[in-house]
Amino acid sequence: MAKPYIVTIDQGTTGSRVFLISERGEVISSAYEEFTQHFPRPGWVEHDAEEIWASVEKLLARAIEASDAAAIGITNQRETTVVWEKSTGKPIHPAIVWQCRRTADYCEQLKKEGRAELFRKKTGLVLDAYFSGTKIKYILDNVGGARSRAENGELLFGTIDTFLLNRLTGEHKTDFTNASRTLIFNIHERKWDAELCEILKIPQKILPSAQASSSLFGKTKGLKALPDGVPVYSLIGDQQSALYGQLCHNPGEAKNTYGTGCFVVMNLGDKFLESKNGLITTLACDAHGNPVYALEGSIFIGGAVVQWLRDKMHFFDDSGKSESLAKSANDESEVVFVPAFAGLGAPYWDQNARGAILGLTRDTTSAQITQAALKAIALQSYDVIAAMQADSGLKLPVLKVDGGATRNNYLMEFQAGVLGASVVAPRNAETTVLGAAYLAGLGAKIWSSPEDLASLNPPAATFHPVMTAAQRERELKLWKDAIGRVLTTR
Ligand code: G3P
Repeated sequence: MAKPYIVTIDQGTTGSRVFLISERGEVISSAYEEFTQHFPRPGWVEHDAEEIWASVEKLLARAIEASDAAAIGITNQRETTVVWEKSTGKPIHPAIVWQCRRTADYCEQLKKEGRAELFRKKTGLVLDAYFSGTKIKYILDNVGGARSRAENGELLFGTIDTFLLNRLTGEHKTDFTNASRTLIFNIHERKWDAELCEILKIPQKILPSAQASSSLFGKTKGLKALPDGVPVYSLIGDQQSALYGQLCHNPGEAKNTYGTGCFVVMNLGDKFLESKNGLITTLACDAHGNPVYALEGSIFIGGAVVQWLRDKMHFFDDSGKSESLAKSANDESEVVFVPAFAGLGAPYWDQNARGAILGLTRDTTSAQITQAALKAIALQSYDVIAAMQADSGLKLPVLKVDGGATRNNYLMEFQAGVLGASVVAPRNAETTVLGAAYLAGLGAKIWSSPEDLASLNPPAATFHPVMTAAQRERELKLWKDAIGRVLTTR
């Protein structure tokens, strides 16, 4: 009989992926599908949840030899908000994506009303349009009849994990990591917060139940691609999944994932820490998948800036080419790119900032702009790592990295240089997928304990810092000056 495998769904911002992972932690197969990004107004971002489901269903059908599937794990873009009809499963509005700025003014209003501290204390988050709460309110306020239907129990809310789980199993559940991104979840009591729901006018009836990331969420029912009865044993937000996949199970351990955005997350264990330096506190997992606190630096635009150069500026047709193009530019270039396409996240939290390319001269080339874009990914990461070190009092000995852009050697070398610390990537850089697979595999008893995971994905590439101190200082000064020019909050 064939060995059992874990079906892992990674539903990301720009595409969906389905991986089959073996009991040795190896990728047996993987398939990917991009879907449409909708930008109905400047700063607004939507997805069609039906298109997301169609992409997942198609990938499942392509990937699966159903009889061997031992368990399903789901990891997902967080915060993206879907409200659907309980009876039909049909969304009543396009999914409002985490990057969408449409509720920025409402967040400012809440801050003026003096609500920021209350939200911060209970949820660990800042009042920003990034998180789901104000997006839910927007849908209930703007779709005809939605509020009364919600109050009557006819509608359900979910982030993408919950929406997919509902389609796969009929259940309406989420996990603590995803719940902690909604602005209405009390991360100390680990339950929906009545006071915050009241402020945002969100009826609790529409909210899913929340449970630990590694537990039984339901079993498949009525699908074309999978037989009935395959258990879903993990749900986890993608950044917390990458933290788990990097085996950062202990307090003080951290990673940076280079995806659409970049997200630095540090495990804090059972000690809540409120950031004094512009980070947020959120929920992640310990070795057994139980909730622990984590510090997070959320950077909204990471790899997305390379996608923008590819799709909107047509500098290259394949993102991989950004590396050679950046290397071809003179290192002394003074071009600085601040990719604040969706405002700035940590540590600045400026909802109204917008992107800028500075230092342009008549001889500026696409190579210099591409180089500046890659540097910006690393410099934004530098900013949040500096904040994290200041908050935690810990100096990261090395930075553990993962995600697609870690294949870009120019980016990784610059990251090590500007940090003055080594950067280490594991053999399989897709630790987002591995985290959800490991947690589902533990639930399904493919692995009997977290210790079994230790040797599955060893470190494979280390980038040592070679930048001189003078060069580092120059890069940081150019960057700080440029940030100062785009901030609207100073
Ligand atoms: O918080 C947003 C994050 O979960 C999105 O991740 O990998 O799609 O950039 P990614």
